[in-house]
Parts: sequence; C-alpha cells; structure tokens
Amino acid sequence: MTTDETIRVRKTLKLRADPENPLPVTKGEGFKDTINELIELAGKAPFHHESPEKQRSETLKGSEPWRFHALDGKGCRTLLNKLIDEKPVKSSDGIKEMLAASDTLILGTWIPEKSRKKGRKYHPNVKNMEHIAATGAAIQNLLLAATACDINAYWSSGGCLRKPKLLKYLGIPKHEILLGAIFIFPNEYPESVQTKIGKNVTNRGGLGDYMDWVEPE
Ligand SMILES: Cc1cc2nc3c(=O)[nH]c(=O)nc-3n(C[C@H](O)[C@H](O)[C@H](O)COP(=O)(O)O)c2cc1C
Repeated sequence: MTTDETIRVRKTLKLRADPENPLPVTKGEGFKDTINELIELAGKAPFHHESPEKQRSETLKGSEPWRFHALDGKGCRTLLNKLIDEKPVKSSDGIKEMLAASDTLILGTWIPEKSRKKGRKYHPNVKNMEHIAATGAAIQNLLLAATACDINAYWSSGGCLRKPKLLKYLGIPKHEILLGAIFIFPNEYPESVQTKIGKNVTNRGGLGDYMDWVEPE
C-alpha cells in the first residue's frame, strides 16, 4: 500500500463482545512483536520539546513527550474482570464490551511540564500544547501502521480508563495524561460480536471546507 492509499483507507472499526462472555484470546506471544513494530513506528513522529527530565520514570527514560503502555489480549481480559469487579456490567458498557473483544489495548499518554498550580494537571502553555500535538502525531502513525498491516484499530478517549485509580492499578505514573486508548481488534470474530464504524465519518467535508490559500498583499 502506498502512503496515500494507507491514509485514505484508514478507518475506525469498533468491536463489542459480551463482557460476561469475552472472545477467547487467540493471538500468541508473536503478536507482541507486531505491536512493538507499530509502536516503534508511532515513535517516529516529530516532537519539538523533550519531555521534562524529572517527570521521566525509572524504566521509560525516553526524551520523547509520549509514552505507550500496552496490554496483550490476556491483559485486556484481566482488566475487564477488574472493571466488572468494581462495577457490574450495564446494558451498554462500551469500554468493557471492547475489552471483551480486543487483542491488545495501547494506552498513549503524554508527559506535561510540571504545573505551578496545585491540583492542575497541566498549564495551558505552548510547550504542553506541542507535547500533546506530538503525541497525537505518534498515535496517528500507529493507526496508519496498523492499517498497513490490515489490523483493526480504534482511538478512544478511554472513558473509565482515564480514572487516576485505574491508571495507578496499571502502573502508569500519575502525572502522565491519557490522550488515547487504542483498541486493537481481530479481523475474524463470531457473528455475536457487534461492529460499529467511527463517529463523524459522515461529517467529513472536502478540502475547501477546511483549507484556503492565503494571499498577503
Ligand atoms: C483524541 C481523540 C479521541 C477520541 N475519542 C473518541 C471516543 O472516546 N469515542 C468515539 O466514539 N470516538 C472518539 N474519537 C474518534 C474516533 O477515533 C474516530 O477517529 C472518528 O470516529 C472518525 O472515524 P475514522 O477513524 O473512521 O475516520 C476520538 C478521536 C480522537 C482524535
């Protein structure tokens, strides 16, 4: 696939299975290599400012402003059970239903500059804006790399996965901010699995709706 084709065919596909009857985990250890490759490609995104050195963890010392924390299929089901233990399944329970169907969950976070104000996670300055932008670019790289490998992916805000308690349970440093929970889904699944395309796909305009040429005089 050319870059142009990959960008044009990339699309969201969400899979939802019954949380009380999740899909069996079929991907073996080898799938981790594929996910590692996708995240390595994500990490080729541009970034302007290095992550604040003091905010880097002992194990993930990179100067990049983003971090990726991945759970394999088994990890997704363990997390699902933890969420069910905390709150019984409701009739429409998106995150749980997706965890019941996913092969992998990748939590993409960014590291803010230390905020001067207590209780505020980040200061709305240009540096932080650019950390977020760079992390967004990295996640888009990941989605495009997944598309090129014919892997279904969905970029979610994370819903209940955003809760500090939950991020702590997953061992994610408390100052990291979740920008995307990327669900990786199988290509083959039983008919009982519900599928859904992404929001906004019918709201996309044409080039003239979001671009103009500026002609200074
Ligand atoms: C930062 C970010 C967060 C998103 N969070 C959600 C979400 O929580 N729920 C949702 O339905 N779509 C969410 N989306 C949108 C989908 O990921 C998807 O891109 C969109 O529905 C358009 O579909 P497409 O990917 O097929 O073009 C988010 C997108 C971005 C960039």
